[in-house]
Amino acid sequence: MRLILLGAPGAGKGTVAKRLTAVDGSVQISTGDILRGAVQAGSELGIEAQGYMKRGDLVPDALILGIMGKRLQEPDCANGFLLDGFPRTIPQAEALRDLLRELGIQLDAAINLVVPREVILDRLTTRRTCSNPKCQEIYNIKSKPPKQEGICDKCGSPVVQREDETEEAIGKRLDTYNEKTAPLAGFYEGEGLLFDVSSTSSDEVVAAILGKVGI
Ligand code: AP5
Repeated sequence: MRLILLGAPGAGKGTVAKRLTAVDGSVQISTGDILRGAVQAGSELGIEAQGYMKRGDLVPDALILGIMGKRLQEPDCANGFLLDGFPRTIPQAEALRDLLRELGIQLDAAINLVVPREVILDRLTTRRTCSNPKCQEIYNIKSKPPKQEGICDKCGSPVVQREDETEEAIGKRLDTYNEKTAPLAGFYEGEGLLFDVSSTSSDEVVAAILGKVGI
């Protein structure tokens, strides 16, 4: 499948993407994971991105487009991809549309995960993430705790709270989402690709998406 996953911070994009990759081998491409990996590695990209991310601001479009232009042409994308956290602005969506046209790739849908704000706030303050940049498994101390407290079930690395999970940064991320990313729903509606999924159950969300793509 070739999907874009839209939705506010904490809507469940990463959780759902990880479950969908197991269905048909489509690869999850999370710009947030790529950037956090770069921050941890102390690379030039990470040094440039870290300040924006910590504040809850978006990283500049040019940086993201540089990464994604290359990433979408890597061989593992041939089996399908799930774009988690990209695009996030209208210029990113336009650039993606042009790139996919050039590559002759057709998207199946842009899935918009619609979750009430109070649920999002609760999820973001209780999320924990594996600190291993190659793993980044997502946990939640209420709904999906690791089997051993503070330790990733998959790779054994420490499970931590992200740097952008302070109350201040969460508020800023939600404002940034409303201002810059929420308008993408209209963009993809115009492209005939928008599919809203409004549920707080991951099972229901996954089933609705698989129904939409006919799997
Ligand atoms: P990014 O990592 O993309 O963060 P985000 O969009 O804010 O999304 P999150 O990862 O917070 O949430 P999610 O929807 O994946 O939810 P999750 O599945 O974890 O981006 C981080 C930063 O990087 C940005 O702020 C920006 O600075 C930069 N950036 C990234 N992409 C960029 C771009 N394209 N352009 C510019 N800048 C960019 O779920 C949340 C929690 O809820 C988890 O604990 C999970 O276990 C739990 N949960 C999920 N579903 C359920 C459920 N059904 N029931 C109960 N709990 C659930």
